[in-house]
Amino acid sequence: MAGRLIVVSNRLADFHKPAAGGLAVALSGILRQRGGVWLGWSGKIVNRGKEDAQIIRTAVGNVEYLSIDLNEEEFNGYYKGYANATLWPILHHRVDLAKFDKASEKIYRLMNARFAKVLLTEIQDDDVVWVHDYHLIPLGEELRAAGKLNKVGFFLHTPLPPSAILATLPNNSSLLSSLFSYDLIGFQSQEDKRNFLNYVEWQFGKDSVEGSKVIRRGKSVVGAFPIGIDVCEFQSIAQSKTAQAMRDGMREEYSKRQLVVGVDRLDYSKGIPHRVHSFGEFLHRFPQMQRSATLIQIASPSRGEIETYADIQRELEALCGSVNGDLGELDWMPVRYIHKTLCQEELAGLYQAAKVALVTPLRDGMNLVAKEFVAAQNPYKPGVLVLSRFAGVAEQMPEALIVNPYDTESVAYAIHRALVMPLAERQERHRALLGKIKDNDLHWWCRSFLQRLTQPEFESRSIK
Ligand code: UDP
Ligand code: G6P
Repeated sequence: MAGRLIVVSNRLADFHKPAAGGLAVALSGILRQRGGVWLGWSGKIVNRGKEDAQIIRTAVGNVEYLSIDLNEEEFNGYYKGYANATLWPILHHRVDLAKFDKASEKIYRLMNARFAKVLLTEIQDDDVVWVHDYHLIPLGEELRAAGKLNKVGFFLHTPLPPSAILATLPNNSSLLSSLFSYDLIGFQSQEDKRNFLNYVEWQFGKDSVEGSKVIRRGKSVVGAFPIGIDVCEFQSIAQSKTAQAMRDGMREEYSKRQLVVGVDRLDYSKGIPHRVHSFGEFLHRFPQMQRSATLIQIASPSRGEIETYADIQRELEALCGSVNGDLGELDWMPVRYIHKTLCQEELAGLYQAAKVALVTPLRDGMNLVAKEFVAAQNPYKPGVLVLSRFAGVAEQMPEALIVNPYDTESVAYAIHRALVMPLAERQERHRALLGKIKDNDLHWWCRSFLQRLTQPEFESRSIK
């Protein structure tokens, strides 16, 4: 790749604090290794009128961070409104939770134009631009409209639902056709890729699709690039002092118990209440496990200013209270719910202390927690992964115990099976899973996306 790599995402990782969220964790890893420029929102809301956002430049190692602030109107309309109260629920199959208003949609478009304006001052002819996630779908179109012919790729970190769900979004064809301005459109799974190509055929006609390419406004290649983790780095994090202190502390505290863990942003897509119900069901069905098994649920605070997120927090608090009240004893609480963000070292320690991880989202683009749990295990005495079939990662990890998170009873049985699984079976499953996450790690993801994007077949794009 001759030019620089310019990455654009709504969320810029805070280089001082732990990041919760797969995108920030993954992109920090990539840029630290390759170097480049990262443009995104600082996370701050400032009092500013209509004038343009100020750009703050910070160099850390070989990465230059360009951060912009949002004003109140942009935060409400673009981030809290259209991106997270309209697009996020629809992309996660939750049409029932989606809110739509034209004013937010307009601010979302304006914000994308604003991101493009910042990029236009930065971009050089041979730079490669990589745009991330649902906040910035129209950004490529803005760059093309300004005459930029650079290679520009887009990666969606969330799922892409089937046409019938996409069609519920007002102006869906205008939004989704703006993806045709990208040279490469990447999804997390084969299912997402299929859904997109089916949608394009359905909405724009059969002749719009040729194999894995969309033939509209030039050519866009569509691919599945499942995101991974940096396995070596996570394994060395797992060996750090903080991780080991966490692991040993948890083992000591729970020496007479079997630990089951869940680690998620507090998001309705993660199926945390369903999981707690299943854990309660497991304790009812296997009373001999009462006093013995404990679920530790880390729920990292997320998007609390949005009503649906405040609702899920209340629901979860009430539910954990009720399971603990119902089943708890003086010396044992079945569920420990922790509404906090832990750093990667602490998480790695927790994963090592656990016998079972419950990764049971109702829908998830990929789910890096599943991969981190596997990477952190001792291969001689590994824990067991219980995994939702509705996480993108399930396509890569059939050796986990695959469950339907809506089926409380079968998840309860899977928890039991995981806790009593013979060592040889645990080792065999773990070996297979570790092999997969090593083959398709974070660097593989980045390399395969950028190689595809910079292939000569894209040279011919012209502005239409
Ligand atoms: N994470 C973290 N601290 C927490 C909770 C999560 O550092 O308290 C990290 C976790 O290690 C993982 C990421 O946030 O790397 C979550 O990514 P995932 O793909 O599982 O879900 P997302 O939050 O992107 O929907
Ligand atoms: C998911 C999204 C990311 C987002 C992250 C955290 O991983 O795909 O784009 O950054 O959640 O959410 P937040 O709204 O805090 O950025």
